[in-house]
Amino acid sequence: MLNSEKDLRISKMLRLWYDSHKRDLPWRHTNDPYLIWISEIILQQTRVDQGLDYFYRFTERFPTVLDLANAQEEEVLKYWQGLGYYSRARNLHATAVIIKEQYAGVFPTQHKEVLALKGIGEYTAAAITSFAWNMPYAVVDGNVFRVLSRLFGVSDPIDTGKGKKLFTELAYALLDVPHAGEHNQAIMEFGALQCVPQSPQCAACVLQDHCVAFATNSVQSYPVKQQKIKVTNRYLHYFHIVLDDKTYLHRRDKKDIWQGLFEFPLIETAGLQTYDALVQTDAYKQLFEGCSIKHITLSLANKKHVLSHQVLYANFYTIELSRAGAGLDGYQQIASETLDSFAVSRLMHIYLEKMA
Ligand code: ADE
Ligand code: SF4
Repeated sequence: MLNSEKDLRISKMLRLWYDSHKRDLPWRHTNDPYLIWISEIILQQTRVDQGLDYFYRFTERFPTVLDLANAQEEEVLKYWQGLGYYSRARNLHATAVIIKEQYAGVFPTQHKEVLALKGIGEYTAAAITSFAWNMPYAVVDGNVFRVLSRLFGVSDPIDTGKGKKLFTELAYALLDVPHAGEHNQAIMEFGALQCVPQSPQCAACVLQDHCVAFATNSVQSYPVKQQKIKVTNRYLHYFHIVLDDKTYLHRRDKKDIWQGLFEFPLIETAGLQTYDALVQTDAYKQLFEGCSIKHITLSLANKKHVLSHQVLYANFYTIELSRAGAGLDGYQQIASETLDSFAVSRLMHIYLEKMA
């Protein structure tokens, strides 16, 4: 696509701004598509300052796609612990295995091959191919939506197919192809540091003269969203069983949150439930069938934990047993001191930290 004069000027200003404001980040010093891929997946779900530690630890343990492919999924999840969205870590691992088997361990170099990999969508494929090889693909993420909507005063909602298509076209119109990689880094960094969601620094903005939202005093009205995500509430009751120096876990295997992670025996109820009501349920009676309960404490009560589409309310009970019964047969008995070596959800982790 041919850029207009104005688009070329804006791209140039963004890159000049980037040159003097960019953060010094490890994935900006490499052309290795594997390292860029890892950084992008980490940064999809965490802020840069938090993501840095994960990036260093992850790439030290798995420095190449083959190291990742040759690891066990459980170890990969362990390195992901605390980041959330574990399906992304599972996809990373599965994709590394595919690259090992189908591409002899060499990261594919064609955009359409990259895009076909599991867990890599339009955004990530554009980031990898433009950052690593300066290929002419525009990144379109939350930062880019915000910057473009303000700059050009576009009030089409960003969360509809039509809106996404429009913003993608705008992003391509602005992409200065010979500088694709740097342009992409620049517009994202500009959104992350300058044209931020709340109180962007318009007074000191190099694009002020070109910015429709600024000119019309309507910066806070952009970007426009059509629908609020529907969230569901879930009510979880975990049982941290203490039997001498043992406890019980199971691995979540259903297609649900936290697939593949370990957790204490769990009862989920349709609404808030007191302990007195909980003990009357069939699930509770089954779980503790044949057990001799010494002591029960509600160690963490009604802990609210927010995921992207779900709000969880969790109770953690610590239950001391003098004898285990048949109800626990389906669970894995482990030595309590080895709990730390299991990959668990952020919520389980919060409880374990509190008890430590
Ligand atoms: N967020 C997503 N990708 C990023 C990158 N490459 N640098 C900084 N922040 C990012
Ligand atoms: Fe963003 Fe404000 Fe600059 Fe416009 S003037 S691009 S809204 S920071």
